[in-house]
Amino acid sequence: MDEKAAHIIVLGNEKGGTGKSTLAMHIIVGLLSKGKKVAVIDLDARQKSVARYLQNREAFMANGGTSVAMPEFKVIAQSAASLIKDREIEDQQNLQEGLNAFNEHVDFIVIDCPGNDTYLSRLAHALADTLVTPLNDSFIDLDLLGEVSATNFQIKKLSFYTEMVWESRKYRSASGKPPMDWIVVRTRLASLDSRNNKRVHAALESLQKRIMFRYVPGLYERVIYKELFPSGLTILDLEKVNSMSHVAARQEVRSLVDSLNLVE
Ligand SMILES: Nc1ncnc2c1ncn2[C@@H]1O[C@H](COP(=O)(O)OP(=O)(O)O)[C@@H](O)[C@H]1O
Ligand SMILES: [Mg+2]
Repeated sequence: MDEKAAHIIVLGNEKGGTGKSTLAMHIIVGLLSKGKKVAVIDLDARQKSVARYLQNREAFMANGGTSVAMPEFKVIAQSAASLIKDREIEDQQNLQEGLNAFNEHVDFIVIDCPGNDTYLSRLAHALADTLVTPLNDSFIDLDLLGEVSATNFQIKKLSFYTEMVWESRKYRSASGKPPMDWIVVRTRLASLDSRNNKRVHAALESLQKRIMFRYVPGLYERVIYKELFPSGLTILDLEKVNSMSHVAARQEVRSLVDSLNLVE
């Protein structure tokens, strides 16, 4: 890709329901709100959560709602060819065509991955300039990164997912690209004081250097993140926020987007 290529942000992990699509949507609107041009590729053709969120956003405006910034978006489904080789070629072509369609005229391409290992998802990881991996509140979720000792946080074994990210990194450096910025974000946090929370926090602090990711604060579990889906809006789109919890939500979304270091 040339120097003007759009910056690719991938949302990925190998687990459903951790908040990839919700984070994706907030990162998208966060970038739009900073005046950036954004395109979106939804690789989760079963759930299509981000695409549906964006369709709701279009419907909101079509039904007389105030105008809100929109990204371009498309859904790419896995190839249904019968031979693996043909499927992989077709997946590769479809993703490349998707990227080519956007690359020239946007600053960022946000790719939302499904919660399982697919060839399309691997291709996306290999292209990621920034990879955002959400992780939930429990110690079990650390398994997404590796098998970690509960006593001294030593890594016993890396997860398949971490191995895959490392492969993607090798591929990037072999093709002369700058290193991928891998960011692990905790989402759907229950309460800062819980024992689990503190332990997961300590474990991630200790793992970040060894596995080479950046660990940044994420989003709490808040009803507002679910409530706004049908309207297609996010907390960043609301002109007035009328509760302490909404003020806090808006602030945590802004901090999250800032911590990705995407915009000067
Ligand atoms: N921070 C949050 N607070 C409350 N609900 C959330 C939060 N993040 C995600 N959810 C909800 O959890 C469910 C799964 O989230 P989603 O973003 O679709 O995860 P994934 O894309 O990883 O499968 C959705 O119903 C979503 O609204
Ligand atoms: Mg999803």
